[in-house]
Amino acid sequence: MILILNWKMNPETFKEAQHIFARTRALSAKARGVRCVVAPPMAFLPLLASGYRGRAIYFSAQDVHRDLRGAHTGGVSALQAKDIGASHTIIGHAERRANGETNDDVRAKVVSARDSGLTAIICIGEKVRDSAGEYLDTVKSQLTIALMDVDAKQSKKIIIAYEPVWAIGASEPVKAPQMHEMTIFIRKVLWEKYGKPGLAVPILYGGAVLNGDDAAHIARESEVNGFLLGRASVDPEKLSDLFSALSKK
Ligand code: PGA
Repeated sequence: MILILNWKMNPETFKEAQHIFARTRALSAKARGVRCVVAPPMAFLPLLASGYRGRAIYFSAQDVHRDLRGAHTGGVSALQAKDIGASHTIIGHAERRANGETNDDVRAKVVSARDSGLTAIICIGEKVRDSAGEYLDTVKSQLTIALMDVDAKQSKKIIIAYEPVWAIGASEPVKAPQMHEMTIFIRKVLWEKYGKPGLAVPILYGGAVLNGDDAAHIARESEVNGFLLGRASVDPEKLSDLFSALSKK
């Protein structure tokens, strides 16, 4: 089970970030069979990563620039993220897509991650669910374009996070049967592209995963390999409930 903790632009101070990180460490140390990837804001990542001596927690950037170097004021490259302690980066989060990030940007960022040795956590997901099934075409084209320059061998460093826009920040997550359908659909696209290695690419769900019961239910019914948490990642009670529900008994 993989848990990606996307803190987004929280918290306000480094002191609070240290508290959240300390709690996360303690929960992750107790949990069995949970691979924990913390994605703090870039302002805090190097400080947290350089102060961490353990091996159980991985660090992730929340985004990287599509280029590896150059005149990009405010940008952070995948090479820089790697150098300051990230092993992963989220790419194509819905909140970035809402700011104008295109499928082509996502594709270029995946190449940057690949060339820097970062594992790319690629976020895909439709804005709305229509009854004609167009959302499946949306998901397929997001996925296909993102993976255009990734071959079967490189697919070891890919994680897919299905995050429907309508569930992010909402009060309820996807229903388990809807997620099951989606896991099968994404797996089929990966299988068609990569064959056997496509079966090993983790598929996660994200969007309003706020309590352990919901997460355990979705995990049981839908064959997801983990979750991407937003709000719950910085909420001690929710996080503890989720860790204990997803830890191997
Ligand atoms: P949420 O966010 O868990 O707060 O709904 C999920 C996400 O944006 O990844």
